[in-house]
Amino acid sequence: MTSSAPVDPTDEAAVEAAAAAAVAAIEGAASLDALAAVRRDHAGDRSPLALANRAIAGLDPHDKAAAGRRVGGARARVAAAATEREEVLRAERDQAVLATERIDVTLPTDRYPTGGRHPIRAITDRICDVFTAMGWGVAEGPEVEAEWLNFDALNFPPDHPAREMQDTLYVASRANEYDAAPGEAGSGSPARTGSGLVLRTHTSPVQIRAMLERTPPIYVICPGRVFRDDALDATHTPVFHQVEGLAVDRGLTMEHLKGTLDHLARAMFGPDSKTRLRPSFFPFTEPSAEMDVYFPDKKGGPGWVEWGGCGMVDPNVLTACGLDPAEYTGFAFGMGIERTLQFRHSVPDMRDMIEGDVRFTAAFSSEI
Ligand code: PHE
Repeated sequence: MTSSAPVDPTDEAAVEAAAAAAVAAIEGAASLDALAAVRRDHAGDRSPLALANRAIAGLDPHDKAAAGRRVGGARARVAAAATEREEVLRAERDQAVLATERIDVTLPTDRYPTGGRHPIRAITDRICDVFTAMGWGVAEGPEVEAEWLNFDALNFPPDHPAREMQDTLYVASRANEYDAAPGEAGSGSPARTGSGLVLRTHTSPVQIRAMLERTPPIYVICPGRVFRDDALDATHTPVFHQVEGLAVDRGLTMEHLKGTLDHLARAMFGPDSKTRLRPSFFPFTEPSAEMDVYFPDKKGGPGWVEWGGCGMVDPNVLTACGLDPAEYTGFAFGMGIERTLQFRHSVPDMRDMIEGDVRFTAAFSSEI
């Protein structure tokens, strides 16, 4: 401390000078830290006024009261000045903190990226929307499927090479209500593994389920995951998605099929898109056709690409599902969803669609 001469508590001028020095120092304190030091020097235990206060005890009794009032009054003024100064300095400090910690709420933030629907999911929904807008229903079924529904009911003969054609993955346990142990009624064709179960190779069994469970008119679209014993490369995946459609009603013809396909093509690839059919074979449709889509925005110029299969539901399939082919006819079609996404967005490598890299999926996250 800037120690000064001891202050005589009976000396009015000395007490006033000490108080004035203290108040001046307090008012000159520029920060809370500086004020703390000034307080220690001018109002602390060893400050001149504290010492003067202590000296009162040794005074003549008749001097004590006046000295006590003098020194007490001086100390009270010093304390009041310090409190006032502290309030000012605190307010200044708070203002400074507010200014330096100011947040610009208009700046971009490090917000967590929101998730987005996977493009496969999004395009599937879009395809389903096209059909629900026409009054069709959406149907789904199990991925582990009875071989009977995946093949037999679809008119694949028991040992027909077409079963191999689809690179079927067979399953070795029972799993759903259409399955039955070998020898039980409805056991279908359990010969291959004894389980009678496959990983469905297409979504056509969902159409069989629809025909077994509903009565015509039936208009269903069946999206879902399917499995084939294929190696993964740029254009094949062993697990992929299909969407198939089935209509069963009185008087349906291939014209209805063609019109439906053209409508879907326009919804997917724009108003200038269209489809064409080439004769083909599927066990479950007769006649059957491969379907190509005209794709006006194709990379490298407009052109036709193979999109899926279709045909009129084979009478044997209707019969297997308890429907009278003399009364009802039906059409069906199916296409790969990955392929559709590939054409629609010129995705060169199908593997990008299944690896789950957000840099790929985020580009599609809100709208496709
Ligand atoms: N289910 C067939 C497949 O996966 C596609 C298809 C569906 C063909 C409907 C004709 C009718 O290859």
